[in-house]
Amino acid sequence: MKPLALISLPLLAVLQAGCNQQSSLSPGGPAARELSRMNWFILILFIVIAVVMWILIALVASRPRGSLREHAPVDAGGGHEWVWIGGFAIPAAILAVVFVVGLRGMSKFPLHDGMAHTPAEIRITGHQWWWDVQYLNSNVSLEANTANEIHIPAGRAVDIDLASNDVIHSFWVPSLHGKVDLIPGQFNRIRIQADQPGVYRGQCAEYCGEQHAHMILLVVAQSPDEYERWLGHQRELAIDPADDQQRRGQTLFTTRACGLCHTISGTLAQGRVGPNLSHLASRQAIAANMLPNNTANLSAWVVHARSLKPGVVMPNMTQFDGNELRALVAYLQHLR
Ligand code: CUA
Repeated sequence: MKPLALISLPLLAVLQAGCNQQSSLSPGGPAARELSRMNWFILILFIVIAVVMWILIALVASRPRGSLREHAPVDAGGGHEWVWIGGFAIPAAILAVVFVVGLRGMSKFPLHDGMAHTPAEIRITGHQWWWDVQYLNSNVSLEANTANEIHIPAGRAVDIDLASNDVIHSFWVPSLHGKVDLIPGQFNRIRIQADQPGVYRGQCAEYCGEQHAHMILLVVAQSPDEYERWLGHQRELAIDPADDQQRRGQTLFTTRACGLCHTISGTLAQGRVGPNLSHLASRQAIAANMLPNNTANLSAWVVHARSLKPGVVMPNMTQFDGNELRALVAYLQHLR
């Protein structure tokens, strides 16, 4: 069973990635399109070089044995020019072309200078191993805080400030842009744009510890109207429990350890260690998009987070009995 799982898991990941548009070769916006043009240019250039080399090798290999002896020995003055041309001039010319193409590409992304004077719309802070997402506003009461799922309006550029709380992470949504690092003590800026509504999957691209591979983020591009509705809803306080079970769940959340690490707006739970859960039920997935957001996964995560994701800060909350767990999860699933 184990070897099968080892093979099928990466395959599944590739398939999933395909469904969610996680590929720099299927660009969904202007920056990614520019990068994908560069990718294709470099890929095709090196395929051509490889083909030429294989043809030369095949020609040499297919020469009759006797004729090889006719090649003048190098120390007799022959062959040096081939070393200069084939070993230096041609590779230098090709690498110079790639370098210039790369420089031209970089100049099209004014990541730091010009943009830093305008405030960003979103600030993303990397944590081991999840993404804190703050929707900024000059009016603090209009700010919104969520995690692991970024919503943006389709069809226009969105500036995002990138920061880190612990180690270096890297923001990478291949269908929308290249990689930009999140570095402790520094703000980096990225400008992304999705032309069409859709879900674009991204990933931390800088090794940041045990669960680096499970630090996934989703960019949900929506029509401007839908986006405004979504943002308006995220700004609202978490909704109140609708029945007795959910009320029990809320009490458990705020009086046991949960509220020390998580925030649910409008309640006593105001922790800032873990993701903000005020609108958890509106998100597609949990555990930094590792598991679909459903009853089974949510229950398993509360009780056995450390088995599902070894190394996470979230402890195994085994103190809840069955009824308590059901109440807690019912409350969390109510937080649209
Ligand atoms: Cu965060 Cu890798």
